[in-house]
Amino acid sequence: MPDMFSTTGMPYADGRILQHAAGGVGVITFNNPDKRNAMSLEMWEGFGMALTALRDDDDVRVVILRGAGGKAFVSGADISQFEKARHNAAASEEYARRSAAQRALLADYPKPTIACIDGYCLGGGMQVAMLADIRLASHGSQFGIPAAKLGIAYGYDGLRHLVSLVGPSWARLLMYTGMRIDAAEALRIGLVERVFPVDELWGETMMIAETVSQNAPLAIKAAKITITQVLEDESRRDMEAVKAIGNACMDSEDFREGRQAFMEKRKPQFRGR
Ligand code: COA
Repeated sequence: MPDMFSTTGMPYADGRILQHAAGGVGVITFNNPDKRNAMSLEMWEGFGMALTALRDDDDVRVVILRGAGGKAFVSGADISQFEKARHNAAASEEYARRSAAQRALLADYPKPTIACIDGYCLGGGMQVAMLADIRLASHGSQFGIPAAKLGIAYGYDGLRHLVSLVGPSWARLLMYTGMRIDAAEALRIGLVERVFPVDELWGETMMIAETVSQNAPLAIKAAKITITQVLEDESRRDMEAVKAIGNACMDSEDFREGRQAFMEKRKPQFRGR
């Protein structure tokens, strides 16, 4: 993948998290290639800051997450920090609180997100990828959650997403064995949506991101909110939120613009209101 974003982006966590935005597309790069982009606590926090900055940038309509170095998306949490920061239940709770707060930002993200996966996507990397709305991967990518190999309990949210993507049986097989699967298998079981040759991955990802960024933001938000609610337990489902975004969308200037542009046979210019 071309590294056009990694040198110009806004750095966090000593440059191990990079953020850039252009043409309505925001990009966050996990940039710790020597450790296969393993995530330290500082990187989790930098990731949260980058997500917040792109969330609050009105020009950004879609966010891509990707790993630098061509070998990994994210190889999981940085295991070298575990001895100090995650060695027992109490320390682990504090560690989980700090990293989970950043993942919660992604889980509740108001804009569409795409994970662009080239290489290893393991453990916490899978958690990030599964929280994104869409996963695109290169043919050579590998996926796994080696929690059982390390003696770690993978949390409720991570498993909820895994089960909703691949079903309980594949979730059990992956979790009990800690096995890695290749991109073809990941595609087959529904863990990723599309797989491309490595030299096409970035272009294809950008093409999808640009398409999303040019579509009507409120219609996308309506889809995002509604799909999230479909996956909620019925007792927790927020049908008011679904109704509110539906009304906002159907009353929007953009819906008028969409109708007019179609009738006038021109490309619509959506403003998100
Ligand atoms: N945490 C800390 N360091 C990591 C890491 C992680 N999750 N993943 C990789 N690294 C480090 C390695 O220790 C190695 O460091 P070194 O150069 O100082 O020896 C470096 O990154 C390169 O890793 P290496 O194993 O030599 O590369 P590889 O291409 O042969 O294999 C992986 C890559 C990702 C398959 C392998 O490193 C691995 O299994 N990592 C652990 C994955 C894991 O268990 N993740 C879940 C954590 S919860």
